[in-house]
Amino acid sequence: MSINKKKHSTDWDESVAEKILQEKKGVPGALLPILHALQEKFGYIAPEFVPTVAQALNLSRAEVHGVISFYHDYRQTPPGRQVIKICRAEACQSMAGRNLENHAKQKLDVEYHGTTPSGDYTLEPVYCLGNCACAPAMMVDDKLYGRVTPEKFDALLDKKGKAS
Ligand code: FES
Repeated sequence: MSINKKKHSTDWDESVAEKILQEKKGVPGALLPILHALQEKFGYIAPEFVPTVAQALNLSRAEVHGVISFYHDYRQTPPGRQVIKICRAEACQSMAGRNLENHAKQKLDVEYHGTTPSGDYTLEPVYCLGNCACAPAMMVDDKLYGRVTPEKFDALLDKKGKAS
């Protein structure tokens, strides 16, 4: 089983971002839906777009920035070509999940929310992937993996490397 390569649309496009903003700015509590849609589209929210969002919603830049910073799921820099999410919830922690986390950080040489210098991987924590019976679990882009040992983690990355 190899890791599927998923293309993120990480090239920020001001006109597309503006269109998203215009489409959603009228809905109640528009800030979160706008940020969500931007993140969904580009994989991150460009900091230079924050003033535009703030102005459209009649908020201060600090308010918008505060929301982006508060939610760890919102990125302010482009993600790696693949996003690896490791489960940190209880069932996985009880099945050597901590060991997997440490191994992944060491192997990729990044901390959580970090991206490898090559731009290949971003490492993120997640709290339950609904795969508790096969703990410890992780997800690479949209693909779920269970009973992930450090060896399995390495094998998945190696296979991915050969496939790309
Ligand atoms: S606790 Fe890890 S998948 Fe549920």
